[in-house]
Amino acid sequence: MSEKHTPIFGIDLGTTYSCIAYVDEYNRPTVVPNSAGDRTTPSVVQFDGDERIVGKEAKNASLLYPDTTVELIKREMGSKDYTFYYQGEKYTPEEISSYIIRKLVQDAAQYTGYDIRDVVITCPAYFGIPEREATARAGQIAGLNVRSIINEPTAAAIAYGVHEQADQVVLVYDLGGGTFDITMIEIKGGNITVICTDGDHFLGGRNWDELIVTYLAEQWQRETGSSEDPLDSPETLQDLYLRAEQAKYTLTQRDRTDVSVAHAGQRARITLTREKFDELTEPLLSRTVALTRQALAEAARRGYTTFDQLLLVGGSSRMPQVSRRLAAEFGIEPKLFEPDEAVAKGAAIFGQKLLLDQEIRIRVAEATGVAPEEVDVQATASPVVEAVQEEIARDYGLQIGSVKKQAETQIVNVTSRSFGVVAWSTQLQAEVVSNLIRRNDPLPASATQRFGTRELGQATALIQIVDNLSTSSQYEPPPASRLIAEAELRLPPGLPAGSPVEITFDLNEQGRLHAHARELTHGQEVEVEIETELGATEEEIAAAERRARSIVIS
Ligand SMILES: Nc1ncnc2c1ncn2[C@@H]1O[C@H](COP(=O)(O)OP(=O)(O)OP(=O)(O)O)[C@@H](O)[C@H]1O
Ligand SMILES: [Mg+2]
Repeated sequence: MSEKHTPIFGIDLGTTYSCIAYVDEYNRPTVVPNSAGDRTTPSVVQFDGDERIVGKEAKNASLLYPDTTVELIKREMGSKDYTFYYQGEKYTPEEISSYIIRKLVQDAAQYTGYDIRDVVITCPAYFGIPEREATARAGQIAGLNVRSIINEPTAAAIAYGVHEQADQVVLVYDLGGGTFDITMIEIKGGNITVICTDGDHFLGGRNWDELIVTYLAEQWQRETGSSEDPLDSPETLQDLYLRAEQAKYTLTQRDRTDVSVAHAGQRARITLTREKFDELTEPLLSRTVALTRQALAEAARRGYTTFDQLLLVGGSSRMPQVSRRLAAEFGIEPKLFEPDEAVAKGAAIFGQKLLLDQEIRIRVAEATGVAPEEVDVQATASPVVEAVQEEIARDYGLQIGSVKKQAETQIVNVTSRSFGVVAWSTQLQAEVVSNLIRRNDPLPASATQRFGTRELGQATALIQIVDNLSTSSQYEPPPASRLIAEAELRLPPGLPAGSPVEITFDLNEQGRLHAHARELTHGQEVEVEIETELGATEEEIAAAERRARSIVIS
């Protein structure tokens, strides 16, 4: 791209490693190395006075300063309970994440010479609304304009899809440092559609490290005969984690490695074979297989019974045990696809698409005299659009073919969570969750459902919006249902019990939910709009009070 067009950068904000990329002037998705020359940066932050040290240096310092070094912060994203204090001040996960983002952006700005303002950040597919909002806020705190939050597996599929002409169904197996995602995606006519997605928030390379750490501690005790437990010492523990990860890397290349473990003045040399490592970690690998089978079953319900390609992304998918096991289980040779970089590159390609779409919109607006926000590019006469695309190709130094291709590519995502309301079931005589939008519904999703008031003369109806992972339309709470927003709908006086209340949910492509409720009896509409937000409602409203205002489903 020419100098005046600053690209939108793509950021893979990982649990253990992060990566930043952009589409360069030759239209190539390109990872930008950090100031140390590495293509990924450890997602570790060390607090040092007013300084925030991010990356390899912080990761190494974690040994000396375990109390002022923060790791794995992504696992806390969106959590209200997380507390980290430094010099008497409390830091939120998004604030800590913003330091990582800032470091990536600063280094990339330095390297490329661009003044970076706009970014696309990725997150695991099953992140709910609070986690997504927190991710976006992390970018904002870093002083950036977050243009979009997209799912990691979708980003990987975009990066893969740009090389692919053929229509195909792809299963993306993403085993990172902290999370596991399994996603089925269809690439058809250049469009990318997510069919379904599943995953585990707490399953990643770090868990493999943990089992090595435990093993090393046991072996140290056996060899030294000491009754001391190395795991009791924070310093030894940090050291063990670093050594465990190193051993894991070595076992990707070779079939055995020696690890030196020092604790309480005694040192032992412990041999770890790949066989032993695979045996120790077999339950973890099996869990990814079980989740993959679950996703395949869901895909089959949606009419997709086979897939053409099994893509491995995420650094942990490099472990030989992964390909071997998947090939045995699913009878297809998996393809390791740029495990550390695909996600950031896909985000960058998506960013470029946003930029081009916006450019097309603005220029079509100029050409047709319509306001940019009113422009409907699809409905605009094709000679106008083509002229605009050619102009953009020229200005941006791109080939017309690639501008057209990007403009035409559509990316359809699914929701990784179900969204519903809590209602009283007269049939079951119990509170139930009624899911209006269900997990794996394509986005944008919209749904309307009718409920009734519970009592005669009820003054208000309490609309409790929850998200959950259930795929059924109705079930009894509370299993794993989380209140994300609450609103009160005022009712006209004197309504009989069972007066209709209609609730509509609109979930956009970004996974943001918009809800409204109407009372229908008097033709008079009472409308409530809820934009779900992080932290939803804090106060615990007494259950009895809730019941008195509840809505019913019959
Ligand atoms: N050669 C290798 N062999 C084994 N494990 C590896 C190798 N390279 C990287 N890993 C592991 O991969 C993980 C990092 O992968 P990646 O950068 O994809 O994860 P992440 O983006 O930080 O995490 P997530 O996607 O879960 O948020 C770490 O646990 C790391 O130890
Ligand atoms: Mg990742």
